[in-house]
Amino acid sequence: MASSPSRRIALLVPELPTAEELAPYLRRIDEAHWYTNFGPLVRELEADMARRLSEPGLPSQHVVSVSNATLGLELALLALKLPPGSRVLMPALTFVASAAAAMRAGCVPVFCDIEPDTWILSPRIAREALRKVRVDVVMPVSTYGCPQDMKEWDAFSDDTGIPVVVDAAGAFGNQSAGVRCVSVFSLHATKALAGAEGGFVCAADPIYAGRVRVLSNFGIEPATDTQRATGTTGVVHSAGTNGKLSEYHAAIALAALERWERTSTRRIDLHRAYIELLAEHCPQFQTQSRAPNDVYSILPVLTPAGCAAIEVCRFLERRGIETRRWYCPPLPVHPAFSAMPVTGPLDVARQVGERLLAVPFHLHLTYDDIFSVTKTLGQFRDSLG
Ligand SMILES: Cc1ncc(COP(=O)(O)O)c(C=O)c1O
Repeated sequence: MASSPSRRIALLVPELPTAEELAPYLRRIDEAHWYTNFGPLVRELEADMARRLSEPGLPSQHVVSVSNATLGLELALLALKLPPGSRVLMPALTFVASAAAAMRAGCVPVFCDIEPDTWILSPRIAREALRKVRVDVVMPVSTYGCPQDMKEWDAFSDDTGIPVVVDAAGAFGNQSAGVRCVSVFSLHATKALAGAEGGFVCAADPIYAGRVRVLSNFGIEPATDTQRATGTTGVVHSAGTNGKLSEYHAAIALAALERWERTSTRRIDLHRAYIELLAEHCPQFQTQSRAPNDVYSILPVLTPAGCAAIEVCRFLERRGIETRRWYCPPLPVHPAFSAMPVTGPLDVARQVGERLLAVPFHLHLTYDDIFSVTKTLGQFRDSLG
């Protein structure tokens, strides 16, 4: 059953709507001649997302689409109106976009450790960090799609008065929205719900969401009646950027939403099959501690303690199995971020950073492929003696 190099097992095959599924949306764009600037498809997508992320008994969510989640994070921070140099606590193990967005918003990332089982920055870690360093904002990450507990973060923000912006880039389908907390999602092609490029900012506060929208439109404020009457529209108080989502990208995301129930169920089933075979063939490889019905877009595993992930990657590569070390090395190792403050030795993030690799995970995998991947991981373990 071992895979041969002639039949490569790809790490990730993006799953976007087909031309047929897109056609009705593209026709609507043709007919409306409206291609960007908050057109009907963008508004429909935002309303759909807001409905999905609003919970009964809690304030409704407001969703602002953006051209990608990196820009969404930057705008979400700018909309908080923080003084320059504000310190954003974030996990050392995350995608470079989390720190880049904070720096582009004029803030300083402060790196902290992660939980050993879920690999996320939790409210517990944030509270501990507050005792050591000054923090003006917290940016927890839904790492690899693992949802953050928004009730706990809302309580954290309530207790401390510190705003929380969750980088939920890869967590659509798993991550709920907060009441005080803001969340930012990605629609990148690699995500479980994909619009090729795109993202959205989700907040319960309509005034805050309005600020994000203004910033995504160059900072241009919606015109008041008086301004319209006097011809003084288009006033900018705070310089923004062009962060708008096009109608074409909204079309892809809307078509992807139509098949979401099917896609998410297939991803849950694929994950379940993987977990069973991992347990059978290579139980020494640890997975992220998460709910079994989470929708996975990638599948990271940890090598047994003392075993460098890079060795496993090479072993699998020689056998035609593609892997990727997502978010490795941790951010403080990158020259761009190495001068940023840290809250301590970051032991867990460093260990996870050395032991983490992601194995092939996508909807084109066969049972035999998963069997091969897990069996090969087991063979690597056996080769250690
Ligand atoms: C944690 C995290 N933050 C931000 C991003 C950036 O998202 P986008 O590609 O939409 O800018 C990603 C993308 O993978 C991510 O994983």
